[in-house]
Amino acid sequence: MREAIAQRRSVRAFLPDRVDPALVRELVALAGRSPSGGNLQPWHVDLVHGGAMMRLKALMERRIVEAPMGEGAEYAVYPPQMAARFDKRRRGVGQAMYAALGIDRADRARRQAVFADNFRFFGAPMAIFISVERDHGPPQWADCGMFLQSLMLLLVEAGLDSCAQEAWAMYPRTLGDFLRLPPDRMLFTGLAIGRRDTHAPVNRFAVDRADTGEWLAEHDS
Ligand SMILES: Cc1cc2nc3c(=O)[nH]c(=O)nc-3n(C[C@H](O)[C@H](O)[C@H](O)COP(=O)(O)O)c2cc1C
Repeated sequence: MREAIAQRRSVRAFLPDRVDPALVRELVALAGRSPSGGNLQPWHVDLVHGGAMMRLKALMERRIVEAPMGEGAEYAVYPPQMAARFDKRRRGVGQAMYAALGIDRADRARRQAVFADNFRFFGAPMAIFISVERDHGPPQWADCGMFLQSLMLLLVEAGLDSCAQEAWAMYPRTLGDFLRLPPDRMLFTGLAIGRRDTHAPVNRFAVDRADTGEWLAEHDS
């Protein structure tokens, strides 16, 4: 477990190698052992690969041109007024990534091109999408996070990599239609799954974490 946590990173360049759907199906089922408040198990999972993956990639090549700003996300990926320390962390990972890619901060076109790679799953051959009931609230979304982390760590243990992708929230209509989500369901996130390209600079930059002093309070007397 320690090793899987240390090894996991968000991979943004995958090898085209085939991933065994049976293995991922098994790991998805195991991740379903994640805890959830009241044992609601509020996650819904769509597994996409093979011909469906090719169709979705082709569809998204069109959509990112037709609607480059997306279709209007159904939830706020970040708080509209984010405290400076959170904004600093968010910017920090972006800066580290663009620096690793040799992209100047002012080069908006290249930054956008990198962002658009989300919609190619960064080359991954497989993905899951997690959706939630519209009338479910923060505790159920947190449970979905439990599921997501369990799955990401199981994938690492199986020699696979992933990248969670809230970017997909930008295209709720396209994804809702493609996955045939019922109207009472909202897309939360995608998760690209595959094997990392260890040579790709985008997979090689360090992502810092805040010191525990910034978020850990201890009460012992
Ligand atoms: C729910 C969730 C959604 C995310 N969405 C995206 C995304 O759309 N695109 C992306 O490149 N990274 C995405 N990330 C990855 C984060 O940027 C990443 O986890 C964070 O910077 C820490 O880096 P690490 O995962 O490599 O440790 C997402 C992560 C989570 C947990």
